Amino acid sequence: MRILVPEKIEENGLEILKQKADVDVRLDLTREQLLECIDQYDALIVRSATKVDAELISRGINLKVIGRAGTGVDNIDVDAATERGIIVVNTPDSNNMSAAEHSIALLLALCRNIPQAYMSLKAGKWERSKFKGVELYDKTVAVLGLGRIGSLVASRLKAFGMNVIGYDPYIPQERFDSMGVEKVDSINEIMQRADFITVHLPKTNETMGIISKKEFDMAKKELRIVNCARGGIVDENALYEALKAKRIAGAAIDVFTNEPKEGAAGEGFSHPLLELDNIVFTPHLGASTVEAQRNVGLAIAQQVLNALEGNVVEAV
Ligand code: MLT
Repeated sequence: MRILVPEKIEENGLEILKQKADVDVRLDLTREQLLECIDQYDALIVRSATKVDAELISRGINLKVIGRAGTGVDNIDVDAATERGIIVVNTPDSNNMSAAEHSIALLLALCRNIPQAYMSLKAGKWERSKFKGVELYDKTVAVLGLGRIGSLVASRLKAFGMNVIGYDPYIPQERFDSMGVEKVDSINEIMQRADFITVHLPKTNETMGIISKKEFDMAKKELRIVNCARGGIVDENALYEALKAKRIAGAAIDVFTNEPKEGAAGEGFSHPLLELDNIVFTPHLGASTVEAQRNVGLAIAQQVLNALEGNVVEAV
């Protein structure tokens, strides 16, 4: 059995895979090289940077399983894989805590201008009034998406004494009640009431651009928004305009619509949002902790081997 790994996954997972298969870790592969060589492999394991689209899947004539080392499968054409009898597996329980904690870290960094103050102090300036922040306590925060990550975030924000409201058409009222989160059914109402918004929706046709210009036009001027889910759920152009015009107070972003593959030769990163001052950002670090990567590495290795050996797996 041959397994191709074109993105970085943790060594613990690779060791398990190597006991049963030939594993090629090829972090340097270009899209063209990937298309060329995919026919030699029984399994492909990716994170979020590799686009596993219908073209790649059709070239993978020996593929039996595609493993997503993480949660979101928006970079994989699951329908195209299913049509060709290829199983898609992911690790939905392995990095939720890290993603939730990173969302809170970004929210606090945003409220207290931590990256900006750090840069200023590093430059030898002592600017206390410039970096006056805001408290979370007693404010209204809207959690968009009350799935695994969103519900962890909601419970942690309640501990800050926040009034937590939530939007998720797929979660029943009883679940909102048990979390102590007020269910709000319209994004318009969310925009009018929220002091803070934190996004935990999956990327789908329905959610892309769910917050765009029209929604920012309804928001409070004090709104601060965090997106640690997927780039584009908050429309990037609309966010840029709203921040530049000070129509809202700030944003914290961990994800972008187009993200480069880490370590790819010559790849840098530039984006208009990086020019603004009322924003904090990180390069898709939600799942980048020792614990999450250890969990993800083990889980994806077990899932992929189970699928290759014909054992029962929880496919996407
Ligand atoms: C995920 O979907 O699990 C996260 O975005 C983390 C990742 O892609 O590694």
